[in-house]
Amino acid sequence: MNLAIVGLQWGDEGKGKIVDYLARSFDINARFQGGSNAGHTVRYEGEKVIFHQVPCGVLNRNTTGVIGGGCVLDPKILLEEIGNLTKYDPAIRERIKISKFCHLIMPYHILIDEIREGTKQAIGTTKKGIGVAYEDKYGRTGLRVGDLYNIESFEKKLCLNISRKNLVLMDVYHAEPLSDSEIFDLYMKYADELKPMVADDTRIVSQAMNAGKNVLFEGAQGAMLDVDYGTYPYVTSSHTVASSVGIGLGIPPYSVESVVGVAKAYTTRVGQGPFPTEDSGELGSLLRESGAEFGSTTGRPRRCGPFDAAVVRYAARISGVKEMILTKLDVLAGFDKIRVAIGYENSDELDPFATELLVPRYIEVPGFKEDISGVRSPDDLPSNVLNYIHVIEENTGIRVSHISLGPERDAIVEM
Ligand code: IMP
Repeated sequence: MNLAIVGLQWGDEGKGKIVDYLARSFDINARFQGGSNAGHTVRYEGEKVIFHQVPCGVLNRNTTGVIGGGCVLDPKILLEEIGNLTKYDPAIRERIKISKFCHLIMPYHILIDEIREGTKQAIGTTKKGIGVAYEDKYGRTGLRVGDLYNIESFEKKLCLNISRKNLVLMDVYHAEPLSDSEIFDLYMKYADELKPMVADDTRIVSQAMNAGKNVLFEGAQGAMLDVDYGTYPYVTSSHTVASSVGIGLGIPPYSVESVVGVAKAYTTRVGQGPFPTEDSGELGSLLRESGAEFGSTTGRPRRCGPFDAAVVRYAARISGVKEMILTKLDVLAGFDKIRVAIGYENSDELDPFATELLVPRYIEVPGFKEDISGVRSPDDLPSNVLNYIHVIEENTGIRVSHISLGPERDAIVEM
C-alpha cells in the first residue's frame, strides 16, 4: 500500500509523529516538497528529535528515506541534521537518498529571504530561503544537486547567479555583495559529503513500487500553505496538497493509493496571513501554553484558535482525504465548552480568496476535564471526548481513524 500523509490546516498538525509511527510498516518514506522550513518533531528513546529535511520515518531501521526532486535542499542544514541522527543510528546515512533533481538552497537565497522579511514584502517566512530558491527553480536559473558533480559547469552557473544576485543585493537592498569563491568552495565540500547519498528518486521509488514494496509519502506544511490553493500570498512556495506527490518524486499520479490527512484538534498558524478562527485572547494563550505551540524551526509563538471544520473540509476535498488523524486532543482537557467553527457568516464553505473577511459560525460542544494522555483504547475515552470526535467527523465529513494524545510514539489510539 502506498499512502500519502498531508496536513489539513496551516502546517504543524503533528505529521512528524504520525509518519514516525506509521513508517515501521513502510519500506520507503519519501518527502516530495518543501525543505528546511519544515520542522517535524518526533520523540525517540525519550528524546525530542526535530527533522527538517530528512523524512521522519528513517529512525525505523527498515525504512529508507528519500528526499524527492520536488524538495529544495539546504546542504548545511541537511548535513547537520544527519550528523545529529547518527547519534541514534550510526548507519543512518546508508538509508538516506537525495534526489539529484532537488534544487539547492544557496546562501543568497537565505540572505534575500531574510532581507525581504525586514521590508513591506514580509509574509512571516521561516527565513530559510525557500521562496527565493523556488523562484530560481521556476526562473530556470537554479542549481541542482546533480549539478554539483559537473564542477566546471557548476562554477560557471554559480558565478553568473552570484553576479546577478549581487546586483540585487547592492542596488536594491543596499547590502554587501557575496563572494563566489567562498560559496564555490563551500558547496564543493558539501558535494563530497552528499555524494554517497545522491540518487535518482524517480527510479528508486518506482522500482520499489514495482517490487510490491510499501511507500509512505510525507507532506510538509499544510493545505492552507499550498502555493496555489492556500491563503496566497501568505503561503509557502511549493504544493503541499496530495497531487504534488507524483511531480515531487517523478512517479505517476496513480502511485498514491490512499491519502490520510492530519489535523490538530484545534487550529494554529505561524507567520502572517488570514486565520478566521484565530483567538487573540485568553483561549489562544491557553492553547499556546498547554499545547507548547512554538515553531520547531523558528521558535516563533504560533497563533491559536478553535477547530475550523470548513478549512478541513476544503483541504480534504483538494487532497482526496478519506480518513484523518486528529492530533493533540489531550491539549483540550480542562475547558467547560469547546467551540468548533462549522462555516462562516454568509457562506458555509471556505473561499481562500476571501479568507480575511470570513467570520466563523461556531457551535459549542461540551468540554472534558479528564487527563486523557495515557488512554490507549477508544473504550477508555470519556464520553465528551468521543462526542467531540463525532462532531468533528460530522462537520468535516471525514472519518477519524486515529487520535494522537501526546508526543510519544505510542500515544495514539486507533478508533
Ligand atoms: P516559507 O516556507 O519559509 O517561505 O514561509 C512561508 C509561510 O509558510 C510562512 O507563513 C511560514 O510560517 C509557513 N511555514 C513554512 N513551513 C512551515 C511549517 O513547517 N509549519 C508551519 N508553517 C510553515
